[in-house]
Parts: sequence; structure tokens; C-alpha cells
Amino acid sequence: MNPSPSQRSGRILLAVSGGIAAYKVPELVRQLTKAGHEVRCALTPAACEFVSPMVLQTLSGAPARSELFDPGEEGEISHIELADWPDLVVVAPATAHVLARMTAGLADDLVTTLLLATRAPVLVAPAMNVNMWDHPATRENVGRLRERGVLLEGPVAGELACGWEGEGRMAEPEAIAARVGLLLSGDAWKGIRVLVSAGGTREPIDAVRSITNRSSGKMGFAVAAEAARRGAEVVLVAGPTALSTPPGVRRIDVETALDMEAAVNAEFPACQVAVMSAAVADFRPAHREAKKIKKEDLGPDQGLRLDLVPNPDILAGISRERGDRIVIGFAAESHDVVEAARRKIARKGCDLIVANDISRADAGFDTDTNAVFLISPGGEAEELPLLSKAEVAERLLDRVEKLRGVAR
Ligand SMILES: Cc1cc2nc3c(=O)[nH]c(=O)nc-3n(C[C@H](O)[C@H](O)[C@H](O)COP(=O)(O)O)c2cc1C
Repeated sequence: MNPSPSQRSGRILLAVSGGIAAYKVPELVRQLTKAGHEVRCALTPAACEFVSPMVLQTLSGAPARSELFDPGEEGEISHIELADWPDLVVVAPATAHVLARMTAGLADDLVTTLLLATRAPVLVAPAMNVNMWDHPATRENVGRLRERGVLLEGPVAGELACGWEGEGRMAEPEAIAARVGLLLSGDAWKGIRVLVSAGGTREPIDAVRSITNRSSGKMGFAVAAEAARRGAEVVLVAGPTALSTPPGVRRIDVETALDMEAAVNAEFPACQVAVMSAAVADFRPAHREAKKIKKEDLGPDQGLRLDLVPNPDILAGISRERGDRIVIGFAAESHDVVEAARRKIARKGCDLIVANDISRADAGFDTDTNAVFLISPGGEAEELPLLSKAEVAERLLDRVEKLRGVAR
């Protein structure tokens, strides 16, 4: 793999922990050096059971260290010098154990000491048995690492070395090397403006009442946060929500679908990517009473009839005007999720629909996790497992990178 013109070569400290996927690390070193990066390897004692430091040393052309207390190795380049050296640290494979130690801030061997001492960004490529990956301890550790800015590549789903099937395979060396190139180039999202809509809308009936829905805005805020973290310029059009604005994001608060349409249409022309995750009310009351409607004014035992008129279809509107922009919509479905989303993408004409099943207790409105399908214009459906909304945002932006032609 030769670096593309936008990619910069850099110094990569490759930390290897003791998972079976370590057998793929020589290939990763080869790919990284071929792309022009300078690579130094550090191994945990367990990693040395799976891959030989000699192989990594030979392929990287630099000493591969595995001991913290080795006077010879420490004399050649101290662990602090090694921690200060890289532009990027890659932990591949990252075992459940090393993720736990990173979360706890332990520094009980060379690799974890380097990870605690370095100020370079850290990319981890987890690899483990699916049950270890799904274990609440690992989920919690990964969530906390992510909050601290640790980047993840994979794991991917497939057949695992232990005989189980599921998510837990280390991302392929090509994918990790491509991500490294992207991170070092630092410009995959530079100058890209991303417009995100989030939350529900609130359609007033009178001075105090309104029609709204249960959308919390968490999914859209996670997308905005992730896009900003990747270096995009982010504009977030948010319906009423108590969520705080993610760092680096410009936020426009709106209340009604008409307000949201006006804000989205005003921002859309200057954007390259639009992710419309807001739950926009399909209808609004035809008239808004300026005062509170009083029960007594309606007469005894009288109900209240509301006349509803359709709201504009914001997603279809911007999809028609999109030119070469990428437009992504969300669909909240309670049944026939994939079929309904296929019909929606055909109707709206956008590049991708993220469909979630709101009948599940652990997905959709006001949850911290989401289980979605990514539906392409041709109707292909990729099912993602139950993930945190931050992880769904990552997967979604990985897909946007692919759609924009940035290799992954
Ligand atoms: C054959 C074998 C394969 C293993 N594969 C993995 C793995 O893929 N992922 C993982 O998290 N742990 C795996 N383990 C367990 C780790 O090696 C063990 O947790 C070790 O303490 C990890 O140490 P480290 O994180 O310091 O490298 C494996 C163990 C054995 C015996």
C-alpha cells in the first residue's frame, strides 16, 4: 500500500498484547512500513507467547521491546523516550486484559507503562472471544476509554479462532493500516462541514400544550460529537433537549418542525454531509391558540378536536437539492424495520437510512444503546449489533468516509 497524496507517514509505536490475533501483527508491521511509516514494537509478556519479538524486530527494522526492567533495552531507549517518540500508538491486538488495565491506568508492564506515559493519540484494535467482548466489564472499559479519546478500529464480526462466531475478530491489517494513514493525514474531515439534526420537535397546541415525541436527541448528539472529534466542522440543529453541546460543535436550538426546516435549509448549502437524525413531527396543529385553552370554555364533557396539517419533509427536501453532498436519514420503525426503511430510502432519495427498531427496550428513543440496520439505496441492509450510541455514530461515520471515497 502506498500512501495516498493526502496521507503523511509518521512514527507508529505498535503495542502488541497477548491475543491469538497477534499472529497477524507481522503483516500489519509490513503494511505500515510499506506505507512509509517508521514502526517500533512493544510487546506484553503474553504477546511474546503468540508472536516472536525477533520477527517484529526484523520486519520493523527497530528493536522490539518486551521487558520494562531490562537494563540493556532501557539503556538503549528508555521507556519514557519510547513513549514520547510516536505520532500515534496502535494497540493491536488489544486484549480484554490490556483494555482493562488501560481503563484502570495500570502501568505494570512495558506496554501499559508506555500507554500511560504517552501523549500521542491511541488507536486500539480489540480482539477477543465474543463473550469477553460482550461482557459488561469490557463494554464499560471500552466506553470509558472512548470517552477519554481512545480511538477504536474493529473488532469485526466473523468466525473466531476460539470456535465461536460473532463480534471479536481483530480488524484486518489493511483496515488498521488504512485507519492509521487516515489519522496521520488528519485531513479526512478537515474543511468538511457536517450538518446534524437531533431530538424531537415540539408543535404547540396553545400557550402551554404541545405535541412532541420521546426522542432524546442522544443519537444525533453522538454523531455530532464523533464528527467533531474526527476534525469536521459541525453544525447541530437540535430540538428541545437537556443534553449539553459536544465540544467543538456549533448548536442551533429549534422548537418546531418549521423552525428545524428553516435552520436545516439555511445551513445545508454550505455542508458536505448531512445526518438527519431528528424525530420531526409529521403533523402540527393547524392553529396555535395564543392563550391556554380552558376546559370550562369547551362546555361540560366536551372533548377537544385538533386539526392537524402535515409538516414539511425535511429529509426529502434536502435530498432533492443534495448535488454531490452525502445525505443520511434515520427511520424509527416499530415493525418490518428493514422493509419499511427500504421503502423510505426509495421515497426520500438519500444515500443511507439508519433504521432502528423502536419496539426494543434497549434501542431507539431515550436509550444509551441502539440496534440499527444501515440500508443502502439498492436495499442492502447491514445489521449492526447492539452498540452504544457513540459506537453507532462511529460506524456511521466510517460508512460516510467510505461513501466519500476515503479508503478504510
Ligand atoms: C490460546 C490463547 C488465546 C488467547 N486469545 C486471546 C484473545 O484473542 N483476546 C484476549 O483478550 N485474550 C486472549 N487470551 C487471554 C490472554 O492471553 C490473557 O488474558 C493475558 O493475560 C493477556 O495479557 P496481556 O493483555 O497483558 O497481553 C488468550 C489466551 C490463550 C491461552
